[in-house]
Amino acid sequence: MRLSDKPHFFGRRVGRRLRRAKSALLDSFLSTVAVDPKQPLAFGCKTEKIFLEIGFGDGAHLAGVALNHPENGYIGAEVFKNGIANLLSLITGVKEGADIAGGMALAPGRSDNIRVFDDDIRLLFPLLPDASLDGVYLLFPDPWPKKRHADRRFVNPDNLAELARILKKGGRLLIATDHPLYKRWTLEQMRGNKNFRWTAQCGNDWKHEPADWVPTKYQQKAVREGRRPVFLEYERL
Ligand SMILES: C[S@@+](CC[C@H](N)C(=O)[O-])C[C@H]1O[C@@H](n2cnc3c(N)ncnc32)[C@H](O)[C@@H]1O
Repeated sequence: MRLSDKPHFFGRRVGRRLRRAKSALLDSFLSTVAVDPKQPLAFGCKTEKIFLEIGFGDGAHLAGVALNHPENGYIGAEVFKNGIANLLSLITGVKEGADIAGGMALAPGRSDNIRVFDDDIRLLFPLLPDASLDGVYLLFPDPWPKKRHADRRFVNPDNLAELARILKKGGRLLIATDHPLYKRWTLEQMRGNKNFRWTAQCGNDWKHEPADWVPTKYQQKAVREGRRPVFLEYERL
């Protein structure tokens, strides 16, 4: 993709001013776990399966599944600097207020199976080979509820075509949302898509989180505020 083709990103790239420890993590540790554009599927260890999480937010789910499944590799893509810094804090164990100037006391091996792409996932898509991923998580994407913003929604024909290309046959795409409009929108976008099959057999399958689940920040907020998230799982045909 040429620079002039860079897609416009409508969300936030930065939030509150970062404290020193998180800022230092971005400066000094991000490069250790950054996706290598020449070998985008390379990790610091052997991996059985490879998953991608798009828009990992504060990284709670990504860090959690990577820790629970050291045998798998996880690529996380996020644009929001504060969220990326939070993920780095989770995987290194470096907390706010820590003085890491003299070197970081990293939890050994905790980041070997995580790679971070700190930009718009649409810039990474062209570097990912066909049929290379076992699963993709798209968890609580921005719903862009206004009709005039519908073309900003991540679930759209172009992105679905890319996801279909990079997923292996039998690979899974999991889309979670707590927004009724985004649920309807996703079901409509996926209906009739010849590349994917909705795996749900009954309401229980999509109204409850999958087994062995690590909740995300937005999921927890939704539940606190009385909204019921749905988990729509699709199999790549
Ligand atoms: C509503 S938040 C949800 C965050 C997290 N998944 C959660 O459930 O807590 C959506 C996130 O997706 C990120 N995002 C949106 N579009 C993206 C893109 N094209 N590439 C990478 N990240 C993206 C945003 O920066 C934002 O942090």
